Amino acid sequence: TDQYAVIGNPISHSQSPLIHSEFAKQTGQNIVYDRLSAPLDGFDRVASAFVGQGGKGLNITLPFKGDAFRLAHQLTSRASVCEAVNTLTFKDGVIYGDNTDGVGLVRDIVENLDMPIAGKRVLLLGAGGAVRGVLLPLLEEKPASLTVANRTVEKAQALASQFAPYGAVRAVGYPDLMGEQFDIIINGTSTSLHDELPPIPHGVFAPDALAYDMVYSAGLTPFLKRAQQEKAGMLADGLGMLVEQAAESFFIWRGVKPETRRVMAILREVLN
Ligand code: ATR
Repeated sequence: TDQYAVIGNPISHSQSPLIHSEFAKQTGQNIVYDRLSAPLDGFDRVASAFVGQGGKGLNITLPFKGDAFRLAHQLTSRASVCEAVNTLTFKDGVIYGDNTDGVGLVRDIVENLDMPIAGKRVLLLGAGGAVRGVLLPLLEEKPASLTVANRTVEKAQALASQFAPYGAVRAVGYPDLMGEQFDIIINGTSTSLHDELPPIPHGVFAPDALAYDMVYSAGLTPFLKRAQQEKAGMLADGLGMLVEQAAESFFIWRGVKPETRRVMAILREVLN
């Protein structure tokens, strides 16, 4: 039996053990998957102890994605550009780091929600770690335009210049969005965690727009409520992204792609 775990602080609410054990059942893989808590300054120690006990891989959640990035010996390009790692693999004394968050978001939008990103006007709200983690895979889909809006405009500008080699990213403040429309609007701010709303002006949702909140919750987040009032065509929370990023990690570790829709349904039921 191979051992895996998710590490974070706090960690008790992580749904990753449920998701990965469903994947394992479905694909007949013999693994165990636990939750690991680490003190804020203790990531390396807890991760190394896990490897010492024979652990094969870790998922990393807040606030340790930067620590995991620094711990890895080898990084994929998608992990190295966003300077954050959510998947570590331990093999023959080498620590491999990858980041599956962006591909998880893209797959949820394109495959599960059936909304192509290519050719669309995409608006990303926020300029923290959540947004940094998904920019490269979004750009790779070739949207018509990609705009990053943030309360602190300088942070959006820094992201835009850092990602310029991979595609055009326009950085703006919220008031600059007045009079513009977008086809896909993704909330990557932490507002939903505090029952707050990013200050988006009225009228930014195109008639068939997808409103996507990277946070998942039982009811509609304030952002999704607002999108509903603005008559956005489709509303989605981040549950699909969570399951898809897990599926990609599972694939990295086990070489098999699990089916995600049934697991999404199970998780939705657990949350409600
Ligand atoms: P994460 O790593 O989860 O993205 P973060 O780095 O703390 O967390 O970033 C939080 C993001 O939410 C930031 O873009 C922040 O905007 P600022 O950079 O201007 O701080 C955004 N955010 C948080 N609360 C917000 C609010 N009430 N209105 C608008 N944006 C908010």
